Amino acid sequence: MRAFFLVFATAAAASTSYLTWAADSFIQRGVMATRYYGEATLYEGYEAAYALTKNKAYVDWYQEQIDDAVVLDNGTIRGWKYDYYSLDDYRIGNNLVWWYERTGDVKYRNAADIIRKQLQRHPRTPTGGFWHRDPDYPDQMWLDGIFMADSFYAKWTYLFDAENRSAWDDIALQYDTIEAHTRNHTSGLLVHGYDESKKAVWADPVTGAAPLVWSRAVGWYFMSLLEVIPLFPESHPGRARLVGYFTTLAAALKRAQDEKSNGWWLIMSEPYPGAQGNYIESSASAMFTFGWLKGIRLGLIAADDFLEPALKAYRGLVDRFVEIDDDDALNWEGTVEVGSLGSNGTYEYYISIPLEENDHRGAGSFMLASYELEKRH
Ligand SMILES: *[C@@H]1O[C@H](CO)[C@@H](O)[C@H](O)[C@H]1NC(C)=O
Ligand SMILES: *[C@@H]1O[C@H](CO)[C@@H](O)[C@H](O)[C@H]1NC(C)=O
Ligand SMILES: *[C@@H]1O[C@H](CO)[C@@H](O)[C@H](O)[C@H]1NC(C)=O
Ligand SMILES: *[C@@H]1O[C@H](CO)[C@@H](O)[C@H](O)[C@H]1NC(C)=O
Repeated sequence: MRAFFLVFATAAAASTSYLTWAADSFIQRGVMATRYYGEATLYEGYEAAYALTKNKAYVDWYQEQIDDAVVLDNGTIRGWKYDYYSLDDYRIGNNLVWWYERTGDVKYRNAADIIRKQLQRHPRTPTGGFWHRDPDYPDQMWLDGIFMADSFYAKWTYLFDAENRSAWDDIALQYDTIEAHTRNHTSGLLVHGYDESKKAVWADPVTGAAPLVWSRAVGWYFMSLLEVIPLFPESHPGRARLVGYFTTLAAALKRAQDEKSNGWWLIMSEPYPGAQGNYIESSASAMFTFGWLKGIRLGLIAADDFLEPALKAYRGLVDRFVEIDDDDALNWEGTVEVGSLGSNGTYEYYISIPLEENDHRGAGSFMLASYELEKRH
């Protein structure tokens, strides 16, 4: 309660930067330096903190994390397995490219190229979608995988292979394919994934679709669209399709926003919002808030329609999920540890997963939402 009122009081002063407060708090606590997508997401929060403040302390810390644990001096990636095909492991490629753009140091470019070449060999479904992971999830595409691989695929192509029409076709194909199998055109929301072979225990026997809308996966997908649309060539018809995927999802999220908390449920499909065991989940709520604010900034959706619900959603994040510990560090609460289609895909499964404090995926998304808000001032 003390934390609750303090946060309210400080926020009311309008001078609090939750972005820098979170960035300072994670440095203070220490972050295990890995190349996995949770850390990759948190590091994007530091890219945002640097963009907002130009405080070199953030990039110095971030570079140490990358140089200690990810990129070796000879431009290879520590512990990389050249025959292990898991989309989750490709997400760090975005951060490597960021470092290449910032420093021009070819070791980051070479490390990113390793991931690009891995994509070239990555197993695919019969219609051309990347498997979520080999050998665990054959013929399966998950919304999460779009964020893990295709944002990087687009960024790398934009920087180093922009004239390659087949690469842009291939990137658009990933979005088109997962859309065709997971979007519910009544609710506008997308289920977690699909199995093209229809063999998974959770797969619909006719469509291969997973049964439920898991909010974090939708959040990854929403963020990925925002990363890729600005890079996509204006002249390519895929760009307009991606914009449509983004704007229709943005509208669906408005219908799905919880009226009381202004956040979003862990499981968003009917009849589960408000059901016993379901709860307002913090990583997805941060991702959707970020997505609306960035979508407004990019001119993809109208401020008239989305700014007010986005500001309410952001206020909800601060009230509900920001706590202050005894050292005045910011703690981020309420993020679910995982949600996997390696499970039976049922409601009982998703709600059985514990919550984590200071989860890097949730906190990184909150930092990105804070960036968008603080940049407006
Ligand atoms: C790069 O350096 C690491 C660590 O020193 C070493 O294990 C690896 O074989 C080197 N790779 C290449 C391609 O030089
Ligand atoms: C262009 O992109 C496609 C699809 O990723 C790839 O197969 C091909 O090798 C690329 N072409 C060149 C010249 O790099
Ligand atoms: C699509 O969404 C509507 C509205 O929430 C729901 O009634 C319907 O069951 C959903 N369809 C599928 C296939 O899940
Ligand atoms: C699905 O898995 C959950 C635990 O993850 C379990 O509680 C539930 O009983 C399982 N349901 C079915 C239908 O197998």
